[in-house]
Amino acid sequence: MGLFIEEKIDLYEEIVNGQASIAVVGLGYVGLPLAVAFSKKAKVIGFDLSERKITEYQKGIDLTGDLGNTVLHDCSIQFTSDSNNLENAKFFIVAVPTPVQSGNIPDLTYIQNASQIVGSKLTKGAIVVFESTVYPGVTEDVCIPILEADSWFFIIRLLYQ
Ligand SMILES: NC(=O)c1ccc[n+]([C@@H]2O[C@H](COP(=O)([O-])OP(=O)(O)OC[C@H]3O[C@@H](n4cnc5c(N)ncnc54)[C@H](O)[C@@H]3O)[C@@H](O)[C@H]2O)c1
Repeated sequence: MGLFIEEKIDLYEEIVNGQASIAVVGLGYVGLPLAVAFSKKAKVIGFDLSERKITEYQKGIDLTGDLGNTVLHDCSIQFTSDSNNLENAKFFIVAVPTPVQSGNIPDLTYIQNASQIVGSKLTKGAIVVFESTVYPGVTEDVCIPILEADSWFFIIRLLYQ
């Protein structure tokens, strides 16, 4: 427990010092304002699969209409649709859609895909926060197994156990 807390304090320091970045995955109504808020204090990578959105955000055009173009234009977020740019991130916030299909079945494909992308970028001590709305159990039963399966760090740890 003590080691865990120390790791988290180290990560906080790394983020505050600009050695590590926060990545926001999914830049819609939830992710974009979060990314802007964090970018006032830390290095932020704003990642979205939609190249059209990223191009507009890079130009300082706020497609959500919630923040305004000036705020977006003046922020320091590194907007990208290239997951290779997530390499330096150690704190991930996932804010992708979880729409409900007919029969009240939630569509988890976006969050599964985002978990794969984040899993492949995880390093020791990284933290992943899921902001997307899900029913109880999705994080543990759906997302974490994908994070583990796609994490090289986790695979290497298993090999050396
Ligand atoms: N809007 C709200 O007020 C609100 C409040 C609380 C929670 N939520 C939850 O937060 C989540 C996001 O909501 P939203 O309104 O921001 O959705 P949104 O549709 O506005 O934005 C989601 C973004 O995620 C992107 N995306 C999809 N798959 C991706 C992937 N694999 N990798 C990267 N980007 C990806 C989409 O291109 C889109 O830009 C939902 O689960 C929602 O229920 C929303």
